[in-house]
Amino acid sequence: MAPAPGLDSEQYEIRQLQPGDTDAASAILSVATAFDSPFFELMVQYQAIPKPARVYALFDTHVPVVSRHIESGLSYGVFNKHYISPRGHANPSSVLWACPDTRDEAPTKIKLLSQIDSPLVSVALSNDATDPQYFDGAGNWIPPAIRELCELKAMLRQLDTAPPKLWQPTERGQMLLREGTFTRSDYAGRGLAKALSYWLMDEMARQGYRTIEVDTYHPAVTKIWQNPPAPFAASVGCELLPGWSDTIAGKVLMGDNVLVDRLCVECKRIYVSLVPDAGEAGLEALVMEGFS
Ligand SMILES: CC(C)(COP(=O)(O)OP(=O)(O)OC[C@H]1O[C@@H](n2cnc3c(N)ncnc32)[C@H](O)[C@@H]1OP(=O)(O)O)[C@@H](O)C(=O)NCCC(=O)NCCS
Repeated sequence: MAPAPGLDSEQYEIRQLQPGDTDAASAILSVATAFDSPFFELMVQYQAIPKPARVYALFDTHVPVVSRHIESGLSYGVFNKHYISPRGHANPSSVLWACPDTRDEAPTKIKLLSQIDSPLVSVALSNDATDPQYFDGAGNWIPPAIRELCELKAMLRQLDTAPPKLWQPTERGQMLLREGTFTRSDYAGRGLAKALSYWLMDEMARQGYRTIEVDTYHPAVTKIWQNPPAPFAASVGCELLPGWSDTIAGKVLMGDNVLVDRLCVECKRIYVSLVPDAGEAGLEALVMEGFS
């Protein structure tokens, strides 16, 4: 893999995720989502469940979702090159609590993380926009774990002011859907998610992709994708700002269900144009031409 600007290459490397990384990636997703996601914190569906139990529930239901993203060949991770397995494994990639029989009733976040025996530390899940999606309501697979998120995505699509041609590629290899960004919290704040995202923009441009679509539910992720390095350019298709709600009781509703009590972070759908030197005009050009 090409080096990633901003990443300490002595300590870390970026690699394509492989099927053997599925449990570790799902575990990182589950701990990060349950403990570190300001959006997830307010999801009504999960509020009654204590955090460790949420981690297990998220893990059990996300393994097939993560597996699908990894199968696309478009998901990548940052790996700690000097990781030493506490269990002495030569090629560690296991999660001690993957199997329900091995789970503590009330583990701490630190313990849950320490039991992810893998050099993987930050994850970027993606797929191609032409891959069958699970949120379109037209017979595609919708895992129960992400039903609410899918509904939110559908709402962002409804509010999206970008012309459909921008997000309706005609063939594989034109538009990437970024679907999940997670860093182990013991590696947070070291620029890993940013370095991985910027590297991904370069890599996708190299592979001939023209646009990346990403939905952001965390201020760090919004900051990263709204400020891509030149020559790439970002535009916002739609945004829900904190305080946004439907008109009923100030809650964010999805159909008849309450998704979150209140919106505490900006949720944005961002498009990054990978067309060199095009800037905002690049996105406009894509709209005019479509993807053909
Ligand atoms: C969001 C997350 C992936 C960030 O990972 P990270 O590796 O710690 O992020 P980075 O260190 O690369 O930081 C990226 C940028 O965001 C900024 N940032 C970090 N936290 C921030 C916050 N709470 N608010 C605003 N900016 C923030 C950083 O300062 C950095 O910007 P800079 O380079 O200009 O200083 C991680 O916190 C996480 O996994 N959170 C839980 C899961 C989640 O919510 N995922 C996102 C779903 S969209």
